[in-house]
This record gives sequence, C-alpha cells and structure tokens, in this order.
Amino acid sequence: MFKTLKGMQDFLPEEMGFWKEMETKIHRIVSIYGYQEIRTPLLEETELFARSIGASTDVVEMEMFSFEDQGGTSMTLRPEATASVIRAYLEHHMGHGNPLVKVYCMGPMFRHERPQKGRFRQFHQINLEAIGLSDPWVDVEVIEVLMKICEGLGIPEPKLFLNSVGDRKCRPSYREKLVTYLRSKKDNLCQNCIRRTETNPLRVFDCKVESCQAALTKAPLIIDDLCSECLKHFEQVKAGLTELGIHFDIHPRLVRGLNYYTRTAFEVTGSGLGSQNAVGGGGRYDGLAQELGGEETPAIGFAMGLERLRLIAKNLNPSLPLNILFLPLESNTVLIAQKLSQELRKQVFAQDLQKISVDLYTGSQSVKSALRYANKKDSHYTVLLGSEEEKRKIASIKDLRDGKQHEVPFSELTSWFFKHVKS
Ligand code: HAM
Repeated sequence: MFKTLKGMQDFLPEEMGFWKEMETKIHRIVSIYGYQEIRTPLLEETELFARSIGASTDVVEMEMFSFEDQGGTSMTLRPEATASVIRAYLEHHMGHGNPLVKVYCMGPMFRHERPQKGRFRQFHQINLEAIGLSDPWVDVEVIEVLMKICEGLGIPEPKLFLNSVGDRKCRPSYREKLVTYLRSKKDNLCQNCIRRTETNPLRVFDCKVESCQAALTKAPLIIDDLCSECLKHFEQVKAGLTELGIHFDIHPRLVRGLNYYTRTAFEVTGSGLGSQNAVGGGGRYDGLAQELGGEETPAIGFAMGLERLRLIAKNLNPSLPLNILFLPLESNTVLIAQKLSQELRKQVFAQDLQKISVDLYTGSQSVKSALRYANKKDSHYTVLLGSEEEKRKIASIKDLRDGKQHEVPFSELTSWFFKHVKS
C-alpha cells in the first residue's frame, strides 16, 4: 500500500469544513484591510529562492525540494511565498502607477524539515505583503492584520515579539562586532554555530544548544547598534502599535530564518503548540526587489502557518450543509429518484441556497444499507422510494433529527422541502 510521504498529510472530508471556515475568515479579514489575492506557481527557479532567502540559510542549504527539469534547469517547490510575490510584482510591473501594492496568497509551501507537532514538509501559509512604502505605519498595519487573524480565529494567548534587525547601513558593522565576539567564544560553540559564525552569524541566536545560549549572554545586540534612521523607524512602529492598543514584547535576539529582512522583524506565538509555537512571522525587506533585479522598493509582510492555526484555533465551528438524501430501494425506482432529486437541485441552484445538499445513493439493496449510508453522510432527511411509493406517487420522507415520517406526493416534494428546510 502506498502511504503519504513523510511530513505530508491528507485532509479528509471531515477536516475540510474546518479549513474552509478558517480560510473564509482569513480571506474576509485581509480583504477588509484592502489586500487583494494573488496566486503564483508552486515551482520557481531555484536561483530565485537562493538569491532571496539567502544561500547561507537553513532553508536554502538543507530544506529545499529541488530537482532538475528535462531541460536541465534547477527548479524548487516554493519553501515560502515572498520571493515569488516579489518576482511577480517585478515581472508584471505591478508598482507602475501604484505606490502601494497590497496582496496576499494562501497555499502550500515545501520544506524538507524534521517533522514534528506543527512542523510538516508540506504545509500551508497565509502570506501577506505590502509593497512600495517605507512608512512605519505600513509596518503597524501589517502587524495589526496578523493580530486580527489571531483574534478572528480565537488563537489562545497570542504573543507578539518585535525587533529591528537594522539595514544595509548599520548591519555590516554590527555583523563585524558579532563575528569578533563569536570567534572569541569559539570553544563554547557547537560545530554548527562555529560554521554559522562565518556564514550567517545572526542565526547563532537561534541555536537551541545550551552551551551556545550561555556563550551568547554578553553578545552584542543589533538593537543597540541601529543607525539613527532605523532607530527612528523602530520607535515609530512601537508608538503606532501602542496607539492601536497592540501589546508587544521587544525580543532583541529575534533574527528570523530568512536573510532578506531589514528593520522591523516580528513573530507571534500561540499556546498549545509545544516547541513549534510560532504561528506567524514576518518583517520588512526593503532590499529584496533590488536584489532580484528591480528598483529599490521597500516592502513588508508576514506569513502564518495554517496547520498551526488549525491546531489551536478556538473559533472554528463549521456547520455541514443540510443533507437531503434520495434512496431508491429498487432498481426500477432509480429513475424517479433521479428525476425528483434533479428537480429539487434545480430549485436549490435557482434560489442560490448554499446550505443545502441533495444527494442520491443508488447502491442500497435494503433499508438497512441505505440508512448506513445516510448515517455516514450525516443526512437530515431521507427520501425512501420503493415500488409501493412509486405506485402511489408518494415519497416516504424521514426526518432523521426527530425520527418523524412524512408521506408527500411527488408533485409537492420540492415545495414541502422548502417549507420545512426554512423553518
Ligand atoms: P517563516 O517564519 O519562515 O516566514 O514562516 C512563517 C510561518 O509559517 C511560521 O511562523 C510557521 O507558522 C509556518 N511554518 C514555517 N515552516 C513550517 C513547517 N515546516 N511546518 C508548518 N508550519 C511552518 C516566511 O515564510 C516568510 N516568507 C514570511 C514573510 C512574508 N516575511 C515577509 N513576508
């Protein structure tokens, strides 16, 4: 028997109601803030991600699903969406005549990580980007949207952590300071951090090894080394969040796993997830568009993991559509069952009733097997059609919620349902 690949999951019909409700709520929240949906391909050239996320990051070094296509081009299943969105923004000149492009997308991402609770190899994100302005109010709004999604879905104890990671001006000198410090602590660092000291020193802050954490207690922090512009920007973001009543904690060691960030960086955690408790994260990436060959374009965004949201969201109560099930009990009543169900469906379409489904099951050999199917489908009504019913041109309707039986002439069936379903 074939099985799903490691770290990948099937979402069965019972689960899909929760996902649809979650996605509908998110679509609604982000569109209230003026964001428009964009969809980009799942596959991109590997180089796009290497250049955006950074060749020295864990994602690019170890976690990408990459392969060569028939023409010898290296392709990668997207590990995140920001690079693709900026590629699309540049390719379609979306910024021409539009100083602020606000877009979002939802869909699967792929990272070859070690699976655990809340961590998968195929996972889904809501990814949102505001492209074009460096104004700190944009940062505030983007963070507000993220917090609103947490509120709308009922994420328990959402906590916002905020930092600034500086920019092209102040980060290089800070990086030098950090590297000097880390080299002086080499004997206390794990092999991975010794390597990172030279390739991606800021990532050392994310190491879980105790001796590394202990060695970092006196490490210089970027937040103490920001240039005046970055500091001003950070102060304005903090003031804006405070103004909106959005609580945050400053986390001076928050560095994020992707290299494109400048200035504002943030993460939100929720309770009930165990060690993988980040429900979302993001930040500013003012240099990315230029890195990808475009003009200098400030931008900021975030992504949230939908699996993690689904695991802990308290406000998801999907209701199934009211199911009316036609059950012809003999082969000679299938035709009439088909006609009657078709007529009812026609009316459901005509009145645009979203919450009604009309089902027909032709596999029932007996009332017992028919009711087994009805039970599986969580039907509200069954319409039993045997030869007796056909002869009398009357359907036997059973309301499975109260157990009552009704006999209704074929000609009145549709109006009978509309009367009862509405009440
Ligand atoms: P990220 O922090 O790599 O950021 O991912 C965002 C969120 O995706 C995480 O907080 C987590 O909830 C979820 N996530 C990440 N990896 C996994 C996984 N293996 N399994 C399940 N969930 C996962 C980004 O992806 C950036 N592109 C965000 C961004 C947008 N920055 C600016 N704009």
